[in-house]
Amino acid sequence: MIIVKTIAELQDALFQQRQQAKTIGFVPTMGNLHHGHLSLVDKAKEVADIVVVSLFVNPTQFGPNEDFDSYPRTFEADCEKLHNHNTDIVFAPSVEEVYPGFAQNKTQPNLTKVHVAELGKDHCGAARPGHFDGVTTIVSKLFNMVRPDFAVFGQKDFQQLAIIRRMVQDLNIPVTIIGAPILREENGLAMSSRNGYLSQEQKDQAAGIHRVLTWAKEQLITHKLSFDSVEQSAVEQLTNQGFRVDYFNVSNADTLQVAEVSDKKLVILAAAYLGKVRLIDNVTLTI
Ligand code: PAJ
Repeated sequence: MIIVKTIAELQDALFQQRQQAKTIGFVPTMGNLHHGHLSLVDKAKEVADIVVVSLFVNPTQFGPNEDFDSYPRTFEADCEKLHNHNTDIVFAPSVEEVYPGFAQNKTQPNLTKVHVAELGKDHCGAARPGHFDGVTTIVSKLFNMVRPDFAVFGQKDFQQLAIIRRMVQDLNIPVTIIGAPILREENGLAMSSRNGYLSQEQKDQAAGIHRVLTWAKEQLITHKLSFDSVEQSAVEQLTNQGFRVDYFNVSNADTLQVAEVSDKKLVILAAAYLGKVRLIDNVTLTI
């Protein structure tokens, strides 16, 4: 496994692989890796000859009051895990390498932004203005640096995955996007770097999101309750369990718009705070 920190080094390393007609799988991450991330690395290794993983905490996808500064950075431990999961190249650039001039002008490192309309407007997009533009911009930049054949993203960030698929389609980016299932703790809590902010007691409590999502899915499958009443009751249950609910939405799984009774493929998207920690999760279903 080699570790590179500059775009030039990355491209040198990839040039040699491309000369040998090797296919490239890419897993973009912000580090602080857990089994969820590593399952994406394993998936990339299944489909491609060479696996590149990026470790980059992207400042442009964090709002001014979000946790960019305190986001956990665990470079050494991440590299060890990646080594054990057969990663070929770790790309860990500095903010300056990715956004030259960022330090001078924090609010506008890039004049060019990639914006996917509609899909990014609701759910996390409504709660975190500018977040998805930050994500699509960095992911396009990373795609241009790595030029992967395949890129793997987790369904944990369902809206992010939908937006990236759409961006790749709309901009004709020559990469195949692979969505990978959510990895969970034994109690059902979706694995997340932000779970590290939770105490053991809060981790038990946090599993409530998945329990309520599973309850809601069951209600929809058995047609016991309407979409609206499922949403309302879910918000009530989560609030009673100590969450501050940001959203709990039954949506069309392709458009992410409010679900209609005729829709077949649905996703239930949820975001809720436990203390200061914002947790997201989702379940999909076909009815
Ligand atoms: P990060 O939160 O580090 O996540 C990196 C990838 O891991 C994403 O595709 C995410 O969906 C996936 N992932 C996270 N938790 C998971 C879980 N429990 N099971 C399966 N996959 C999981 O998402 C980002 O970083 C950034 O927005 C990024 C795409 C890197 C752009 O900066």
